[in-house]
Amino acid sequence: MNILAIESSCDETAAAVLRDGRTIVSNVVASSHDMHEQYGGIVPEVAARMQLESIIPVITEALKPMQNGAESIFETVKHRIDALAITVGPGLIGSLLVGVETAKTIAALSGKPIIPVNHVLAHMYANFVHNESSHPAPIAFPAISLVVSGGHTELYRMDDERDITWLGGTLDDAAGECFDKAARLLGFGHGGGLAIQQAAATAAANRPVTLPRPILDKKNALNFSFSGLKTAILREVNTLKKSSAYTQETVGLLSREIQEAITDVLVKKTMDAADAFGARSILLSGGVSANQRLREKFEAAAGDIYTLAYPPVALCTDNAVSIGAYAYFRGAAQDWESITAQPDLSVEISS
Ligand code: KG4
Ligand code: ZN
Repeated sequence: MNILAIESSCDETAAAVLRDGRTIVSNVVASSHDMHEQYGGIVPEVAARMQLESIIPVITEALKPMQNGAESIFETVKHRIDALAITVGPGLIGSLLVGVETAKTIAALSGKPIIPVNHVLAHMYANFVHNESSHPAPIAFPAISLVVSGGHTELYRMDDERDITWLGGTLDDAAGECFDKAARLLGFGHGGGLAIQQAAATAAANRPVTLPRPILDKKNALNFSFSGLKTAILREVNTLKKSSAYTQETVGLLSREIQEAITDVLVKKTMDAADAFGARSILLSGGVSANQRLREKFEAAAGDIYTLAYPPVALCTDNAVSIGAYAYFRGAAQDWESITAQPDLSVEISS
């Protein structure tokens, strides 16, 4: 079964063809990231306009490996694509509409089934795709799945590939937001968590622990809160900037402590959930799961007890392969007329 998947929920425009849920035929991602750097953040109208311009070229590129001779991309869809998968939310309304309306048009004209996809849930399905990961072992259930991205920090229990229960999420900011804010404060622009990771790697030693690890009370044992940590980072950066000790070395040390604080919390909560539910596997996904230190800490925590899985870096951040994988394993086709963009689509689902 060949699925053409399309993703446009934030500042990426992505399309992919996935065979039988696990084999990547193509994976194309165009980002307006650099453009937004000029504005100091994502400008929704700018993102949507760029996505309008890039969506057909991106889909065309994704269909290339399937194309026969000089046939049109429409003929390729008609003859060799079995279904479309489209992110319907959550995300920016203008961005979502670009993908949703394009996918609906292709579905309506080709008569192919179309499967609506929840972007946040889809992130975890990057772990079901064949990749070069050092953990190719099949995922044993139950699994605890941490989705950690720029807008979300969510924990789920998975009892099989379809059966997902939401366990908790952030009460305020997402972990990725905390990385992004810290990066901006430290002058790394729109570089986000990757810039913090790179600066942290320059630190020769651990800084003494100065930032809080917000763990929360029993009632919120599986929820997260990063706003206090964000404020503490702001305070630390300001103090450092005022002193004569604001150097590349101290910025590296602080970046390291920021990375330690965020990853400590993510690992602790996820491992608590794994213990509580007798999980056999731990799945990481979302942009922040690209973080090298986070992976190291999870490797150590999982040991031989849990199977640990995380996608290759390119499938941690936004992409359409995950969208296609979700559609294959958990999706249900709908009439194209009934599909709408849903910017506030809930991620707190139960099985
Ligand atoms: O999943 P994603 O591409 O987009 C959303 O759905 O939000 O995640 C983007 C987030 C950003 O906050 C970015 O700073 C973070 O992922 N990120 C990282 C790393 N690479 C990307 N955070 C920490 N370390 C990284 N290496
Ligand atoms: Zn995402």
